[in-house]
Amino acid sequence: MKRTFAFFASALIACATLSPIMAKADVAEGRALYHGHAGFARGVEATNLHLPSEFTACAKCHGAFGEGGREGGVTAPALIWSALTTPRGEAPAFQAESQILDAVTKGVARGGAALGPTMPRYTLSDVEMSALLAYLKHVGRADDYPPGVDRQTIRLATMLPLSGDASAAGHAVLDGMTGAFDAANSNGGLYGRKLVLDAIDIEQDAQALAKDVTLRRPFAVVGGMWRLDAPISLELAKQRIAKIATLTPHKDALSLDAWDIDLLPPLDQQRNAIESALNNCEAPGPKWAIVSNLAIATQIGDQRWFASAAEAAEAAKVISSPGCVAYGLSDAAAVNAAMPVTWEKRLILPFPAPIFLVGREESSNPWYALGRAVARLVVELFARAGSRLNERSPLVALEQSFRVELEAGAPAYFDRARHYAWDPGIITISAGAPKIGRKQF
Ligand code: HEC
Repeated sequence: MKRTFAFFASALIACATLSPIMAKADVAEGRALYHGHAGFARGVEATNLHLPSEFTACAKCHGAFGEGGREGGVTAPALIWSALTTPRGEAPAFQAESQILDAVTKGVARGGAALGPTMPRYTLSDVEMSALLAYLKHVGRADDYPPGVDRQTIRLATMLPLSGDASAAGHAVLDGMTGAFDAANSNGGLYGRKLVLDAIDIEQDAQALAKDVTLRRPFAVVGGMWRLDAPISLELAKQRIAKIATLTPHKDALSLDAWDIDLLPPLDQQRNAIESALNNCEAPGPKWAIVSNLAIATQIGDQRWFASAAEAAEAAKVISSPGCVAYGLSDAAAVNAAMPVTWEKRLILPFPAPIFLVGREESSNPWYALGRAVARLVVELFARAGSRLNERSPLVALEQSFRVELEAGAPAYFDRARHYAWDPGIITISAGAPKIGRKQF
């Protein structure tokens, strides 16, 4: 059914002969304007309504596939070429490309009347006009793919430390991802498309890294680990490349129009977890946190925050009754070595506790399990996004609240306001073996 329609639509496109008014134009540029990935040259002056750039995208009203939509109780008609070049009801077809441009710039409807006020009147440069026209001939067609996508493949990239000090973690994440993507591909892939993953080493200079990503132009960067304030982040934002299941936590919760979906909770959530773990601790002595990896130290009530395990161990020497200490993964070894065994220990994880234990059983570290969870999340999101993808499809899919079990005991939740998968996990370590804290936030 779909195939027939696509064939029919492209046959119509081939038949439609409007007098062309401009020479060769850049379809990609028109696509960027249509979808709002590039702003119009005149900024807020681009429309009579002085719309900010996020509302000037044609896709906002006419749909990501040119299928049309409803806006403020008004119907924005389909913009696919075959619709523009056929009569609609009583109204004649657009007779020339210049007439379509008149609709966009002057609000002249088919047949010469005025379009309703919901359709903005655009002031466009010549380049923008020809780019938009060129793209209107493509929108909604079977081959109107976003970058990185074609009929057979969805090309993804990951950016990991694959050389240098952290390379063991980087390779473990990559192995976990590759295994899960291979499994999805051997099950038929996603709507018949295979997922192809390019691994990019972050241990190279900023320019080389940006070039590496740009040349590959993936549909999305998945499961990467890189400093979020590094220049590559700007580059990805500029190119509107979605970042999915990133393994570097953000500082605060993400804004809703961000192009990011995190696997790990933001640092402020991890700080809340530390506070709450300490509040729930029954040891008679002081309550301390060691936060060398979290640039979030605050001092609350009788809690004391140390920058290193050594510092805390030194201070503990003069304390008579055992206390409680909370710390992250990167301090775990030092805490076990230096802090008195009589103290209660709370390991705060940026993922649910079962991931830590699964990781220990299957691969001696949690990175493999994290990589696998990344790939499972990507597959789940893309499956929800459907077979027709555009740049924001995975982000839109996330906004319909859902829950998915990425690993036994490690469910991920999403909704419009929540762009990260997991809450922090807490492992209580008393004298014996670690036991998983019941409460996860
Ligand atoms: C804020 C919503 C909105 C935005 C943004 C918008 N349009 Fe429209 N557009 C409409 C509505 C609503 C109509 C129908 C008006 C009417 O029928 O009177 C319309 C009508 C049209 C028509 C006439 C279609 C026909 O079949 O008669 C064209 C062509 C068009 N828009 C192109 C565009 C292009 C190109 C862009 C982006 C540069 C764009 N529009 C952006 C809402 C919008």
